[in-house]
Amino acid sequence: MDSRDLLDVLAKKSQQALTGGGEERITKQHAEGKRTARERIDRLLDAGSFIEMDRFKAHRCNDFGMEKNKIMGDGVVTGHGLVHGRQIFVYAQDFTVFGGSLSLSHAEKICKVMETAMKVGAPVVGLCDSGGARIQEGVMSLAGYADIFLRNVMASGVIPQITAIMGPSAGGAVYSPALTDWIFMVEKTSHMFITGPEVIKAVTREAVTKETLGGAMTHNAVSGVAHFAKSDDDACLDGIRELLRFLPRNNMEEPPRLETGDDPMRLDETLREVVPSDPNKPYDIREIICSNLDNRYFFEAHEHYAKNIVVGFGRLDGMAAGIIANQPNVKAGCLDIDASLKGARFVRFCDAFNIPLIIYEDVPGFLPGTHQEHGGIIKHGAKLIYAFCEATVPRITVITRKAYGGAYCVMSSRHIRGDMVLAFPTAEIAVMGAEGAVNIISREEIKNAADPAAQRKILVEEYREKFANPYKAAELGYVDDVIDPAESRPRIIQALRMLRTKRDTNPPKKHGNIPL
Ligand code: HXC
Repeated sequence: MDSRDLLDVLAKKSQQALTGGGEERITKQHAEGKRTARERIDRLLDAGSFIEMDRFKAHRCNDFGMEKNKIMGDGVVTGHGLVHGRQIFVYAQDFTVFGGSLSLSHAEKICKVMETAMKVGAPVVGLCDSGGARIQEGVMSLAGYADIFLRNVMASGVIPQITAIMGPSAGGAVYSPALTDWIFMVEKTSHMFITGPEVIKAVTREAVTKETLGGAMTHNAVSGVAHFAKSDDDACLDGIRELLRFLPRNNMEEPPRLETGDDPMRLDETLREVVPSDPNKPYDIREIICSNLDNRYFFEAHEHYAKNIVVGFGRLDGMAAGIIANQPNVKAGCLDIDASLKGARFVRFCDAFNIPLIIYEDVPGFLPGTHQEHGGIIKHGAKLIYAFCEATVPRITVITRKAYGGAYCVMSSRHIRGDMVLAFPTAEIAVMGAEGAVNIISREEIKNAADPAAQRKILVEEYREKFANPYKAAELGYVDDVIDPAESRPRIIQALRMLRTKRDTNPPKKHGNIPL
């Protein structure tokens, strides 16, 4: 063969590799409202930046006639490219090839991408659309999954790992996504479960649809397994691009700083009115979060789960920051099991990737009740304490109103290495609310008073005046300053600038023992 023939062979093979499972299956994929693996990669990456790896790789299975049925790429498209000009690695399972099922070769391709990404120090994005273990391969396929799990864990905290579920994800296959940092799901077309509706019916006689069992909203709002629900493939891929904007490429880098054009000294007098004077009145903490952020843009994560705590990303004078805030609008902002888990995971992600934390605090305490106690609020609440205690990134706390009891300690107080605590004049920093405190410490006095109700009112007022303010804590140096809410944006930015070169460490150890 001369060189022209050789190039013809290459062109033919390349064309074959591009067509995946063929036109008919591609049409079926489109009819279901799903893009193909290659279309998804094109949408995810900056135009023209994709470089494919292993496009000719095929499976090595010789059973069930598979030796006669080899498709180049073997059901997963892998490689690297750019998102907003920064390198990432990507794999996209191709449902048109053996239902995107995972053979050993398929797994090897994913592992190669992950290993290269770790060496280079760049995020990995996995786009999952798969029937699970390649049934014809048996244990070889299971070996492939285990190989991926190991690499997910080795990469955890080294490079950001993001997974999008864009089709089925069943059985043990769900565990690779679960080991990554962020899970996106596409509404209606994606499902995640360990055992499907048929198995559940057979074992427990329970009838459940795929959507109720493991659809996007189930995992976003009920189980908390997924962090983002998107209406379709495009919205999902755009969401991943947006998330990547806030993240460094690896744990040795700082998150990228972007010019946003917003005045760092901008004041907002409306913030003086956001926190109601009645301590029992709710308000939306996002009003304060958004006002403080550049261009008022808050990229909220995990928004459908444990709404009593709000987490997400934003910029302050162009610097990326992780925001974690009690939400007085939901359950009065109480910390419960779900909020503790959501918050702890977010804090640990930001700490792993050098993203400073801004904490907004308005929390009456941990949610009381047998459901919480029996569900293990003690160990789950401890996770949030643990996460804050070990975090060494800059941490700035703004106490807007209640900082009661254990929750005062937990929400990144000075005592657990919070770097700066600012309080609004409306802050109430005490062991508990005035009503509860008076009920306990003045029980006899109230009982014996001529007019118990009037006496109670007087004592509540007295307690409130003495403790329901930020000045006692400021006197002790636990609060660094009491600020005019209108100035909160410049004050947070000044603190962030001051802390930019912060270095702190934890004692050397194999790893800690977070109360799992
Ligand atoms: C091999 C598979 C496959 C699999 C699908 N296909 N799943 N091939 N191994 N696991 C093939 C089909 O034979 C079909 O091939 C093509 O993919 C599309 O599948 P359809 O069934 O036509 O598609 P659809 O109707 O959309 O249904 C999709 C599906 C269904 C729900 C995913 O295919 C399905 O239930 N598959 C099996 C799922 C499963 O039980 N997997 C094992 C889970 S256990 P043709 O040639 O006809 O197009 C597991 C353990 C992992 O994964 C443990 C890790 C620790």
